[in-house]
Amino acid sequence: MFGWRRDKLKLGFVVFELTDACNQACKFCYNHFKGNGDDYPIEAPNYRLACRTLKRLLREAEVGSLSMSGGEPMLMPKIHELILRARFAGCSVNMLTNGTLLTVHDIAIFRDIGVNTLQIPILADDSAIHDSMTQLCGSWRRATNNARRVAAIEPRWLTPVLILSRMNVERIEPTLDMYAEMGCRHIMVNRFNIGGQGKRNAERLMLTPDELRDAFRRVDAKAGEHGMSVHSGVCTPHCVLNPKEYRNILFTRCTTDIMSRPLTVNYRGDVRFCNHSPRVLGNIHKEPLAKILARCDETGYFATVPEKCNACQLWESCKGGCRAAAEQVYGTFTRRDPVIDMEIKRHK
Ligand SMILES: C[S@@+](CC[C@H](N)C(=O)[O-])C[C@H]1O[C@@H](n2cnc3c(N)ncnc32)[C@H](O)[C@@H]1O
Ligand code: SF4
Ligand code: SF4
Repeated sequence: MFGWRRDKLKLGFVVFELTDACNQACKFCYNHFKGNGDDYPIEAPNYRLACRTLKRLLREAEVGSLSMSGGEPMLMPKIHELILRARFAGCSVNMLTNGTLLTVHDIAIFRDIGVNTLQIPILADDSAIHDSMTQLCGSWRRATNNARRVAAIEPRWLTPVLILSRMNVERIEPTLDMYAEMGCRHIMVNRFNIGGQGKRNAERLMLTPDELRDAFRRVDAKAGEHGMSVHSGVCTPHCVLNPKEYRNILFTRCTTDIMSRPLTVNYRGDVRFCNHSPRVLGNIHKEPLAKILARCDETGYFATVPEKCNACQLWESCKGGCRAAAEQVYGTFTRRDPVIDMEIKRHK
């Protein structure tokens, strides 16, 4: 199917995790290696290896859109050169950064080399809430200053990101007002998706399905007021959030289609189903990417239907929500999104 011996693969969307290192310790962070205790080893940014991996990826695949992520990608020295390499290979490049380490010089270079968009989480209009979520004092001030610098060049260039959780749900309206005041008309609102560090803070962060419905209703209303379009990038079971009820919000769907799903490659060359999934499918320095993907298709691992979704008429559009979160919590892709269990707990 992939013709891995001869042809270059065509991939719609790849998340490239440049480094595992980060200057923040967000309570909600899904990075899977943070999920199993405090003493996980984190390597300092390794430019040579990241560059070697990126070169191999771009040799094997035509990538439509490449999101630079991590960890915190701005910790990577010479990140501009990595981006330029991807731009020369024809990729549209998005920067996912916590915004605290950006300099005026970085922003100018990103503009010159044609970075498509910068996604910066601004978790509340209230600095104390933001800093408490990131566990880095002063992070709100630095992130918002830099987000304003980006938006001042071109408001569309900035995508502010709101991660909805119990810690900031009260601040939805003033936070969206703040995005609007910065000139942003395209924003991202993701529910907190359990995984990584977030598994250890789940009680403080996770909203019940009823609370999520109410929160997204409020996001939808505020977005309508400001003429904003909202992208919600964490797929959610349709029995928890019905996309048809939110006119101004476009919800991502989980898909096994290689052209649409956020295939994830880290700087070491490990390949995963998506950025939330902890399961390593193979390593591109050990075997061709096409062979890794073809093997996953053959095993049928991603083709399973969770037992409780078997008879559901919404299956084709829903696919059980975020099954990578099920992998993070239950260790298997065969179950539905754990957010549904919040509903069950509530009814008990
Ligand atoms: C893992 S971060 C890496 C890039 C960068 N360090 C940052 O925070 O923007 C990528 C994106 O995922 C978001 N994110 C992290 N943990 C999340 C979670 N548990 N649920 C939903 N989004 C999450 C972050 O806010 C950020 O927008
Ligand atoms: S979400 Fe981003 S900034 Fe926060 S700890 Fe994770 S990688 Fe770091
Ligand atoms: S497919 Fe599963 S998760 Fe989706 S709406 Fe149906 S029962 Fe809920």
